[in-house]
Amino acid sequence: MDKPFRRRDLLGIRDLSPAEITGILDTAETFREISNREVKKVPALRGKTVINLFFESSTRTRTSFEIAAKRLSADALNISVSASSLSKGETLLDTAMNLDAMAPDCIVVRHSSAGVPHQLAKVSKAAIVNAGDGANEHPTQALLDAMTIREHKGKVEGLEIAIVGDILHSRVARSNIHLMTKLGAKVRVAGPGTLVPLDFQHLVENGLTVSPNVEEAIRNADVVMILRIQRERQDSAYFPTLREYSIHYGLTNERLDLAKKDGIVLHPGPMNRGIEIASDVADSSRSLILDQVKYGVAVRMAVLYLSTGGSPTNN
Ligand code: CP
Repeated sequence: MDKPFRRRDLLGIRDLSPAEITGILDTAETFREISNREVKKVPALRGKTVINLFFESSTRTRTSFEIAAKRLSADALNISVSASSLSKGETLLDTAMNLDAMAPDCIVVRHSSAGVPHQLAKVSKAAIVNAGDGANEHPTQALLDAMTIREHKGKVEGLEIAIVGDILHSRVARSNIHLMTKLGAKVRVAGPGTLVPLDFQHLVENGLTVSPNVEEAIRNADVVMILRIQRERQDSAYFPTLREYSIHYGLTNERLDLAKKDGIVLHPGPMNRGIEIASDVADSSRSLILDQVKYGVAVRMAVLYLSTGGSPTNN
């Protein structure tokens, strides 16, 4: 029998068992209602310190980690990388070890290079939580996506999930492919041939299909997950123009009509409206984009709580 999540670090979904994933989601469930209270605070992490160390821009992840820490009564602080001694030439590892010397309980890190959280975890006494490392993983995004799906579909197992767009550069896609297949979903990916990596073949036996086109991926899907075109990670032309991308791969109402009647739409944000997703789809009742953001707070409360020694809930 698998054990629930009792790790110090959350570095990715790839190494987690289904029981660990479910334990985090069940724990997030118990924290969810705190955000609906008039006084949105519980003492679970009183006396603990959480540092947000973000080397890439972020609206949702950094804010929700800070809110999550504060709702659990931890002291939360954001390091401004441009105003830190990194700008004077200090190395990333020296910066991390100096922060660690101040005895934080958890360091949440986002970096443009894959593997940075894993490096920090080797030298840090504090728990390290990966808030996105290059194109590798974004584990809390996949967890909040799973929580959104569970809330609306009651389960993940057996669902047909289409992940569409810039798969190659997407840490969200990688974490979601691992998480959704571990929980028993059938996952299909689709996008321009140049943006769908060939190294996914080893995941096929776990329930992943590479669809020949977007329509095939979306047909009969319970969940359509649209990914942002990551222009900041694209060093060459992967498709002719954004207009052509939008015509051939963008989620329109016509394409969404191919999904199940009660199929839902997810997007991790930030959205490029009119490119990977039409505005009327993004604003429709089938779009759960703001629910994803809402559940992000509960998931990050659970991750901070568990990484700093809390016991998982098992429903
Ligand atoms: N989904 C996500 O990671 O959004 P941010 O870049 O705003 O944190």
